[in-house]
Amino acid sequence: MLKAVILIGGPQKGTRFRPLSFEVPKPLFPVAGVPMLQHHIEACAKVPGMKEIILIGFYQPNDALSRYLSSAQQEFKILVRYLQEFAPLGTGGGLYHFRDQILSGGPSAFFLMNADVCSEFPLLEMLRFHRDHGDVHCAVVLATTANRKQSLNYGCIVESQKTHEVLHFVEKPATFVSDIINCGIYLFTPEIFTHIGMVFQRNQEEKQLPLPTPREDQLWSRQRAEVIHLEQDVFTSLAGQQQLYVYKTQGFWSQIKSAGSAIYASRLYLNQYLQTHPERLVSSQEGGCTVNGNVFIHPTALIDPTAVVSVLLGPNVSIGKGVCIGAGVRVRESIILHGASLQDHCCVLNSIVGWDSTIGKWARVEGTPSDPNPNDPFAKINSETLFRDGGLTPSITILGCNVNIPSEVIIRNSIVLPHKDLSRSFKNQIIL
Ligand code: GTP
Repeated sequence: MLKAVILIGGPQKGTRFRPLSFEVPKPLFPVAGVPMLQHHIEACAKVPGMKEIILIGFYQPNDALSRYLSSAQQEFKILVRYLQEFAPLGTGGGLYHFRDQILSGGPSAFFLMNADVCSEFPLLEMLRFHRDHGDVHCAVVLATTANRKQSLNYGCIVESQKTHEVLHFVEKPATFVSDIINCGIYLFTPEIFTHIGMVFQRNQEEKQLPLPTPREDQLWSRQRAEVIHLEQDVFTSLAGQQQLYVYKTQGFWSQIKSAGSAIYASRLYLNQYLQTHPERLVSSQEGGCTVNGNVFIHPTALIDPTAVVSVLLGPNVSIGKGVCIGAGVRVRESIILHGASLQDHCCVLNSIVGWDSTIGKWARVEGTPSDPNPNDPFAKINSETLFRDGGLTPSITILGCNVNIPSEVIIRNSIVLPHKDLSRSFKNQIIL
């Protein structure tokens, strides 16, 4: 029997995803037409013996999350539960706190996944690798390769080439350690809790040391004892003890940190739909528009059926629930969220258009991202960032919820906060 745990973080996390995370918890943001989390849940539901998926986070239980969980349970016929941490406990603290619930029913192993990754989720391959390596170790880490510069932003792994044991694990090193990076997807046996428990114990002992601090500080330090970071606190010391192994995937993988990286992740998942969900992709005949490349259109979206000038969509476009698209509209490399309205002849490129926003006739909304080079073997982890080269100019355009763009203006490389009625063109600005 197997289980899966997904770490969904909480409201204080996902700040790079603003303003979009103001409206929905980031794990529910649609990527390739379905909530980011659904890609994880679908992959878990396909694993034979998978009995339960547990989400751990520090969001207050809310309607959007509960509604999504009950619909996912029905759709994928698997138990999906949310467990709320009393405070952000890090990537290992919540896991340890809820260990009894994770281990109830006696799973032989469980997957752990970060919610903010986009992946092919080679879970069966990880299970096979685990069994082929004798089942005796307590963790398999999914990894991919990065170039030297990129690797510094991730957990870096030095492996034994013969056995694939993790010999060293360093989280975000200051200088180059290895081009093998942690994907944030793991397979653990229940033994992992012994090792997390040792860290917990150590933290508890440190907490006992007398500190002449006021009450608030003592409370904070008590809480802090439960905060555990799997990467720094557990993997670093498990490396080299024949307990931690690495399975390297050739499949796609990317993080979803900024809104810009959601467009990139959408492209990867839409491409995967060619094999896994061809029914989610539209072709030119459907909906009376010309489709170029991979495009998702929610069945309730309305494309002007009387359009004399045809609508041109794609590549890499996701159109949400109830979106209205007028005649002659062009959309490329963009996510259009539910209830938005794209009026006749407007053009949307490299952008995210927020819920219920309106783009007037002949308006242009566009970004200019640094596109991953198709010949770059590491393009798969080149998730686009919101601000190019660390500067202040957004590389894609994001319209928050309920923004109105008038006719015939151009909004380029800008972020527009929710509920704004713009009256002119903007370039390279954050409109508050
Ligand atoms: P950053 O680049 O700083 O974001 O680091 P990272 O990529 O290592 O991410 P981080 O460790 O912050 O988060 C990895 C995953 O764990 C994400 O899906 C987060 O939402 C989730 N996460 C992070 N901290 C917590 C926490 O305290 N509790 C829970 N339940 N999840 C968390």
